[in-house]
Amino acid sequence: MRSTPRSRVVVSRSGRRTRWAPVAEALRRALASGSRAAGELLPSTRELASTFGVHRQTIMVALDALCAEGLLRAEPRRGYRVAAPEPGLPPPRPAKSRAAGYTFRIVREPGPIPAAIGAVKYPLHSATPDPSLLPLRELRASYAHVLARHGSSALDAATGAGNPLLVRELLDYLRRARAVLFERMLVTVGSQEGIALAARALLGPGDVVAVEDPGYLPAWQAFRAVGAEVVPVPVDARGLRVDALERLLRRRRVRLVYVTPNHQYPTTVTLSAPRRRALLELTLGHGVPILEDDYDHEYHYRGEPQAPLAASATAPHVLYVASLSKLVAPGVRIGMLCGSGELLDVLERHRQSTVRAGDGVTQAALADWIADGGFERHVRRARRAYAERRDAALAALSRAATKLPLELTPPDGGLAIWVRWPEHDTVELARRALARGVAVLPGPLASIEANSPGMRLAFGRVGPARFAEAVSILASEAKRM
Ligand SMILES: Cc1ncc(COP(=O)(O)O)c(C=O)c1O
Repeated sequence: MRSTPRSRVVVSRSGRRTRWAPVAEALRRALASGSRAAGELLPSTRELASTFGVHRQTIMVALDALCAEGLLRAEPRRGYRVAAPEPGLPPPRPAKSRAAGYTFRIVREPGPIPAAIGAVKYPLHSATPDPSLLPLRELRASYAHVLARHGSSALDAATGAGNPLLVRELLDYLRRARAVLFERMLVTVGSQEGIALAARALLGPGDVVAVEDPGYLPAWQAFRAVGAEVVPVPVDARGLRVDALERLLRRRRVRLVYVTPNHQYPTTVTLSAPRRRALLELTLGHGVPILEDDYDHEYHYRGEPQAPLAASATAPHVLYVASLSKLVAPGVRIGMLCGSGELLDVLERHRQSTVRAGDGVTQAALADWIADGGFERHVRRARRAYAERRDAALAALSRAATKLPLELTPPDGGLAIWVRWPEHDTVELARRALARGVAVLPGPLASIEANSPGMRLAFGRVGPARFAEAVSILASEAKRM
């Protein structure tokens, strides 16, 4: 056995400094090279200790490890022998087949995702809520309460449908706040899991899904991941063009319609009441289910938000997803999936092959917080704050619109404003703004036809002063184009 460089110290997985691991690795390599025949006795531990320059005890630990791996056999009072080759192994292959690199055969690759925008001074691209509005003390107390009251049982695996207390609280909340009555719910890992589950259960390769264009890319990705074809339906100032959907339904066999009727993503327009009725009738008539994504229902500033499609008496074919990502924080990963009991059974079984269940501790803590009234207090406060930010954002944009060709319709709700730039290339404008620290979402990045002249400017996370600064940077870049 060749000697190795004098022992080096490595750090074990437990973080302890260990000397035996490099010795064991050197011996392992020597055995793998075939330089010792099966049954051959190794040099004594004393000799090995001198060869490696370590204590005999270190050698013994390394040899014991190799015995445990089946590479050596300890013989009382004689020493350590090379173990016989194990039965059940194929004959050794030529060394070149043991090459270091390996390329996995990927049979399904997701489409490209837009490059992540890192930390920027003016994050207007993503309509995430402002974490500084969250009552952290209350949330901390709810987590502590759950762990104190239930002890380690709070850490038991969560059930597939979600923590029953949270399910009850959320169903009650949907009834009170959104006038929508469901008997059952799956608490999902964000609404994205709900969308992906619906895609897995309802769509097969080549199936057509009708979606709003511009629309929500993460949902399209979930549909495409199961091989479905995502077909655009245009959106105007009153939401989805139901007449265009009707033409599509006549031409193609559509298997699912995905919509964001309340504050359409990304334009924030609200689907009008007549179009809601027409959409429900049309899809029911064609036997096509709707996946309704009601992701930020409460952030509505003009009158009351319209009830979800799922609340209608003619909506047995609507599968409803909602989320706490905007109402609490995107990191809590709590989504809601509601619909017919039979379908939910199937979707719950689908979960068993992926996430199995969500995070039980977070679910129990949120149930506690909602039951205490903290959640609804927070939503009311946040809604007021965002209403003020929306007004301030509209004022900043109206000032800019006196000097620049930009158009907008004040949105009734949402955390963003959709601005149209009829004379500008919005992708180029977004690129220039980003170079100056202003991140925005240009319409073509949220569009299948890629011809949207709009741009989404989110005001939820930045205060009015910073939003106004961002708008003046955007305006100065637009003027230079
Ligand atoms: C249209 C739409 N649906 C759903 C969500 C929420 O997704 P998730 O619950 O997976 O965070 C968002 C963004 O937060 C959204 O913009």
